[in-house]
This record gives sequence, C-alpha cells and structure tokens, in this order.
Amino acid sequence: MNLRPAQQADLEALSAVHRRAFTPGWGPEEIADLASGPGAFGLIVESEAPLGMILCRALAGEAEVLTLAVDPQARRRGVARALVTAAAGAARAAGAQAMFLEVAVDNDGAIALYETQGFVRAGRRPSYYDRGGGVYVDAVVMRLDLNSGAL
Ligand SMILES: CC(C)(COP(=O)(O)OP(=O)(O)OC[C@H]1O[C@@H](n2cnc3c(N)ncnc32)[C@H](O)[C@@H]1OP(=O)(O)O)[C@@H](O)C(=O)NCCC(=O)NCCS
Repeated sequence: MNLRPAQQADLEALSAVHRRAFTPGWGPEEIADLASGPGAFGLIVESEAPLGMILCRALAGEAEVLTLAVDPQARRRGVARALVTAAAGAARAAGAQAMFLEVAVDNDGAIALYETQGFVRAGRRPSYYDRGGGVYVDAVVMRLDLNSGAL
C-alpha cells in the first residue's frame, strides 16, 4: 500500500475511487476544478489499483477536508486513517492551525473515523445534504486542532 500526493495524471483514478464510495460521486472534471483552487491538495493510496483518496484545502491558517473516499473493497484496513493523518500533516506544514470538515449526521462510520483521529464536533449545519425526494440531512461540522499533537 502506497500513499502519495495525487497528480494531474491521477484524475481518472481519483474519480473512479470517489464513484465507488459515493452515489453519484464526482467526475474527473469536478475533481480537477476543486484541485486547482488555491491551497488545494490531494493524496491517493494505491496498491495495484487506487484504494482511497482525500482532497483538502489549506489556506490562511485553516484547512478543510473537501472529500474522503475509500473503495468499499478496501475498507477497515486503515486506508482512511493513513490519508487523514497525512493530510493533517500536510495542512500543518502549509501553516494551518486547524482542520475542518462536514459529515452527514447519519454517517456513523465516518464520524467514528474522524473521532479516532482527534476531530471534535464543532457545530451543525441544518439540511446541508440534499438526498433527493425532498429529504435533507444535517451536517456535523468537525474540527481538529493541528497544534494539539494529536496526530
Ligand atoms: C468513512 C471511510 C472513509 C472510512 O474508510 P476506511 O479506510 O474503511 O477507514 P479505516 O480503516 O482507516 O478506519 C479507521 C478507524 O475508523 C473507525 N471506522 C472506520 N469506518 C468505520 C465504520 N464503518 N464503522 C465504525 N467505525 C469505523 C474505526 O475506529 C476504524 O478503526 P478499526 O477498523 O481498527 O476499528 C469509508 O467508509 C468511506 O469511504 N465511506 C464512504 C464515503 C464517506 O462517507 N466519506 C466520508 C465523508 S465526510
């Protein structure tokens, strides 16, 4: 298992992983758009095939996880833990003091992952995710102090 910075040439692979983890998932163009923004960076975990990806932004002393996805076949093997740890390190190196993210309030697995990584609940955004059919789900805002030495 290899973890490395994602490159332009990885856009298809990043999208493939994202589409295996989310419905509908992001296409290469959407990922390219986000990855070209100020302070954006991506990391990828691969073995023979890409297994996981994270996309973040570190800007003006704050970092944000834009998305995190692990192939369903590769879950509970520490792929996300490795990605979040590396992303937090990269954000800290880029001068960020804290890392934020939003996660659906019913995404118990992701919330458990972030809590094991030292994130704490910092707020709630009502009706943040549109699930279709008039169903909206709140987001939990989570925060990791990058100066705490937790990671
Ligand atoms: C959430 C997700 C990224 C976790 O990826 P993963 O590689 O399986 O996570 P890891 O193996 O690194 O898990 C590390 C720890 O987090 C916790 N955890 C991860 N997934 C969990 C789950 N489904 N249920 C409970 N705890 C979980 C556990 O403490 C786990 O340690 P353990 O396996 O030793 O018990 C993955 O399930 C995924 O891609 N889900 C769909 C997309 C998504 O929800 N992304 C996040 C949106 S903000």
